Amino acid sequence: MIDQAESLRKQLQSSSRSARVISVVSGKGGVGKTNITVNLALSLIKMGKRVLVLDLDVGMGNVDLILGRRAQHHIMNLLENQLSVWEIIEEGSDGLHTIAGGRNFGSLAHISDDMLNHFINQLEELENFYDFIFLDMGAGATETALKFILSSHEILVIATPEITSMTDAYSMMKFIYTKDSSLPFYLAINRCENDREGKETSLKLMNVCQKFLKKDLICLGMIPLDHSVLDSVKKQVPFTLNQPSSHASLAVMQLAKTYAGVTEEQKASYKSFITRLKSLFRER
Ligand SMILES: Nc1ncnc2c1ncn2[C@@H]1O[C@H](COP(=O)(O)OP(=O)(O)OP(=O)(O)O)[C@@H](O)[C@H]1O
Ligand SMILES: [Mg+2]
Repeated sequence: MIDQAESLRKQLQSSSRSARVISVVSGKGGVGKTNITVNLALSLIKMGKRVLVLDLDVGMGNVDLILGRRAQHHIMNLLENQLSVWEIIEEGSDGLHTIAGGRNFGSLAHISDDMLNHFINQLEELENFYDFIFLDMGAGATETALKFILSSHEILVIATPEITSMTDAYSMMKFIYTKDSSLPFYLAINRCENDREGKETSLKLMNVCQKFLKKDLICLGMIPLDHSVLDSVKKQVPFTLNQPSSHASLAVMQLAKTYAGVTEEQKASYKSFITRLKSLFRER
């Protein structure tokens, strides 16, 4: 681990990137956030991007499970043992960097100010190292989670065609919008029975955002309901690696291409994620 931390630090010194930080949210749980985040991240890596997934479903994390990794450290270890962020990043043979959320303990809600400062200072090192940092959020939004969401550059909403998922996705967007109306919203529809269902779902959500929030919602794509996803979760191999030519994999790879291109020009206006995070936590 020390060797890995050292090697990551060296890579950092030769890096001058500026990460797009994306919160992946849903409202309703179990709609596919973690599976899409991990597979989208892997698809971006195939395109030559440097990507980190930070599992912010702290205490109930499962990014490492979906990747079939046995995380040696998780966020709470960084906080409690004052580790450096490079010591808790796992680097897989697939090239994806992850920070595990850990399981079987509480949440980030009650951490001390000292721990929080250490956490934010450590995260600061990451901004210039990656092209994309995905924050895989749990269902709903705690006060702490909301601060991370509001500090991100972009929001990626995952919804399914189920009415409960659609209403929860809208509630989540409305909630975020009332706190910061300028955050760009992107949408991916998961578990579609067919194209028509996916298009109808995305249109409904786009229309409702436009009508009630006067807010553009950009649909990146649709992922079909596909048995390869279930099979891959069971095998603990991400579906884009387990079955790269399945319908779900092809859809996610297409989504990655759309996503990588879509906001390059808008990125120039992005402010530092850490600066925003610091100011939101200072308010507590
Ligand atoms: N496209 C799909 N086709 C078939 N099954 C899917 C698909 N996407 C997700 N699933 C199923 O849904 C389950 C939940 O997915 P996932 O853990 O990614 O959801 P989540 O939104 O991250 O959940 P949580 O809110 O608990 O974090 C998966 O284990 C898988 O069985
Ligand atoms: Mg999840």
